[in-house]
Amino acid sequence: MISNFSHLIDLNDYPVSWWNKIIELGHEIKLHPQRFTHACDGKIMGTLFYEPSTRTQMSFQSAMIRLGGSIIGFDNPATSSVSKGENLKDTTKIVSNYADILVMRHPLPGAAKAAALTADCPVINAGDGGHLHPTQTLTDLLTLKEEKGRLDNLNIGLCGDLVNGRTVHSLCKALSAYSGNTFVLISTPQLRLPAYIKDVITASGSKYTEVSSLDEVINDLDMLYMTRIQRERFASEEDYLSQKDTYILDKKKLNKARADMIVMHPMPRVDEISTDVDDDSRAIYFKQAKYGMYVRMALIMTMLETDTSTSLLKGKVHKNCSCPNPKCITNTESYLPKSFLGIGDTIECEYCDERKLLTH
Ligand code: NCD
Repeated sequence: MISNFSHLIDLNDYPVSWWNKIIELGHEIKLHPQRFTHACDGKIMGTLFYEPSTRTQMSFQSAMIRLGGSIIGFDNPATSSVSKGENLKDTTKIVSNYADILVMRHPLPGAAKAAALTADCPVINAGDGGHLHPTQTLTDLLTLKEEKGRLDNLNIGLCGDLVNGRTVHSLCKALSAYSGNTFVLISTPQLRLPAYIKDVITASGSKYTEVSSLDEVINDLDMLYMTRIQRERFASEEDYLSQKDTYILDKKKLNKARADMIVMHPMPRVDEISTDVDDDSRAIYFKQAKYGMYVRMALIMTMLETDTSTSLLKGKVHKNCSCPNPKCITNTESYLPKSFLGIGDTIECEYCDERKLLTH
């Protein structure tokens, strides 16, 4: 299915050269913000936030305002027509008639792609459930470029909730596209990175290891990406409590790391980084949030200037076949074509990437 607009659902829908251009433009904006104050004069951005957000929503809003544009939208579906039972298709269709570009965050994986299918303007995925978060990844790439000077040949540690952390998923997919990067995946067995992301890493020729102890590997890393245990994505509070507080980066642990290692975090932090780390020069997560605004300015400008179509569904609609992931958007919004990509006898949902065995 072809859409007349260019959307950002997954960074990997674009070539690495496109990401690099956005990162370069973000760097340019950071150096000379005054040159861009009228870049989006007269344009309107619609923010559809079905899930709580502080950084992502405000950084998108401030990005648009700093480019001279305006914003409309909601951050609490309870006060919009969603509370009257309006489906995603109608809300998207209508707001895309008011706005020039939409930014959407939703608790269900695949929701941004579903919205793009009907939107009459570009859609940016600002997080779809535990699936992907491409604009946090652009933030992380700009941060790495600014702070480490490169995006390749890095030994990257990712620690915490790797199964539910959408920022981790998008970041691993992106960094494996640059040569020489290796991944150290630090989590409990219950919170390991999903298989489809590990397959992307392997297919790119990059290497990964899975470990349980942060102490044992911290000294090998160029960058440590700490993440929050995603309470809202656990099946029960008991499951969450069994994982909570497993990894806490404190001053003592950080002292074992190299002097040039940087600590990143998409935020919000709960207690996985103790506040005594904040004053260490290696802790760059507050700076990282600011880079996010510059890179989103670059992204908004680029997407408003791009006038191409996107191929949204490339696979096959399988009759009477639904996605096995109960959280997938296709299991809530019943009108969506249930499209799968085929990989041998296994097929993969085009919205949430969940795999399923094809029965003949
Ligand atoms: C992250 C998210 O929403 O996925 N936050 C963000 O966008 N900066 C990380 C999180 O919620 O833990």
